[in-house]
Amino acid sequence: MCGIIGFTGNIPVQDILLDGLQRLEYRGYDSAGIAYFKEEQHISLRKTAGKVADLRAICDDNNSSVCGIGHTRWATHGGVSNVNAHPHRVGKVALIHNGIIENYHELIEKFHLGGKLKSETDTEVAAAVFEALYDGDPEEAIRRGVKLFKGSFAFCILFADHPGEVYAIRNVSPMVAAHCEEGSFIASDLTAFISYSNRYFIVPEYHLLKMTPDGITMASLEGETAEPEYLEVDWDVTAAQKEGYAHFMLKEINEQPEAISRTIVPRLANGLPDFTEDGIDDSFFEDCSDITIVACGTAMHAGLVGKSLLQNMFQIPVTVAIASEFRYEAPVIGEKSMVIVVSQSGETIDTLEALKLANRYTKKTLAVVNVKGSSIARESNYVLYTHAGPEIAVASTKAYTVQVATFFLLAVKLGLVTGKMTEKDARAFVDNLQRVPDVIRQILLTADDIEELTQRMTNAQNTFFIGRGLDYSLAMEGALKLKEISYIHAEAYAAGELKHGTIALISEGVPVISIANQSHVYSKVISNIREVKARGAYVILLSRDEKISDPSICDVQLRIPDLPDAFTVFPSVVILQFIAYFAAVGKGFNPDQPRNLAKSVTVE
Ligand code: AGP
Repeated sequence: MCGIIGFTGNIPVQDILLDGLQRLEYRGYDSAGIAYFKEEQHISLRKTAGKVADLRAICDDNNSSVCGIGHTRWATHGGVSNVNAHPHRVGKVALIHNGIIENYHELIEKFHLGGKLKSETDTEVAAAVFEALYDGDPEEAIRRGVKLFKGSFAFCILFADHPGEVYAIRNVSPMVAAHCEEGSFIASDLTAFISYSNRYFIVPEYHLLKMTPDGITMASLEGETAEPEYLEVDWDVTAAQKEGYAHFMLKEINEQPEAISRTIVPRLANGLPDFTEDGIDDSFFEDCSDITIVACGTAMHAGLVGKSLLQNMFQIPVTVAIASEFRYEAPVIGEKSMVIVVSQSGETIDTLEALKLANRYTKKTLAVVNVKGSSIARESNYVLYTHAGPEIAVASTKAYTVQVATFFLLAVKLGLVTGKMTEKDARAFVDNLQRVPDVIRQILLTADDIEELTQRMTNAQNTFFIGRGLDYSLAMEGALKLKEISYIHAEAYAAGELKHGTIALISEGVPVISIANQSHVYSKVISNIREVKARGAYVILLSRDEKISDPSICDVQLRIPDLPDAFTVFPSVVILQFIAYFAAVGKGFNPDQPRNLAKSVTVE
């Protein structure tokens, strides 16, 4: 997944592109480049492997250009190199691309490009195709070209003899645009130009945009003019900046209390969940035979918590499916099935395609997404937006907790509608949910203690996260967090499974993060902990107990505030996020831009 940005207007473009790319760098950061109109009919390019800062270092200091495009790459076709960096230029065409042109080899043959290409990328092939079809009319060349492409794309395109104009078109890969007094902007997401406009529109698929300093025209491939449907966000540029935190991840961990409040409070009426403003009335929850939750990564882990909650509270069959698996299986979904897809970005391709599949079987599809107007939001029959604000760090933190909070609200609504939850119990449940932001604030104050104990882990080769029930679901999220930013191998294990093999891996000093907050299995987990402790493990215990001083149970206990079992997920996951963050920083890594990863997986 890559970051793209384009601008044409009445102020210098270079810093708009570079600053925008800096904000898009979480989408991909192995190389970067810009192209801009240097003179009337001449396009200049600057591009390099490395970070946006490396690109900035090779740019002109006094660049008066007011029209250009920029790209930050997460390599798919072709390795990380200067020549594979975008933009790519062929003849009069210069372009940037987010996506994958699956039939680019076929196009190399069709347009006899063999031996003429400089890079290994599908993007250069796209530029060559547009150039081959170009006879002075950019829109005609683009219309004819995209009809030949198979796969996903978001293109921004310059034509050397059309100075001041940026053209764009997308299929699957995200793109938003806006016109404001400074000119016309387009980008992968709003964070790139939020300092100029908090109004934007989603570029519809297969609609051709022509951007000039005076405005944006949009038309279908058939040439029918279309009007942009503008949206507005209530956050500003500071939300997309670190604001004094060392990393976005640390900022976003600390933003969780407010993110949860913004997500749940507007959906409470008279102390009970109310989704009227979301366009979801109680009938959506009636006559539901089963629930399937579909997502990827951390969003899928939030779904696991949702499953535990819904299934244990209401004995309704709940399945959690990994989207990339679900979409290629014969789904067991009927018209009374509810399918909940969860996605922070709303652009994860596997989750989007899984949703499209589910829509073929049931109308009860609900998307829990954090980005307004995202592809998944637009594809789903019902949408519940989480209000975490932009999540920039690749490692998802506040998105997870607001997704889990949303499942808590859904559980109460489902319980009330099905009569399986009394109003009294529902109110008590919501009261506990409203305590969560303050409970998380208590944990945030213990960051230094967690940093200190994490220092013992930074040299670990392997770590284990164990728990039972809800805590096992939580253990999965803790393991993923640690792996993806500290590169320490971690495995989440159902505590009761250890004796069936994995305990063989426990040796002196192996860190075992143990979560023991589910009362009905507490003593069992403690027994499992004693077993690993007896074999030399370094045990970090997350529990509500008063201080445990029994060395046969743990080396360190991190106290969880006294909440009902299910609600301990929230303070516990913040501790796990901190452990991952401090382990990564302790090893000298940048937790915001972990190797090989990108924020949203918009390509398969
Ligand atoms: C989470 O830390 C990861 N970055 C990743 O697993 C992420 O949760 C997953 O790719 C799903 O992304 P989405 O929520 O935007 O769909």
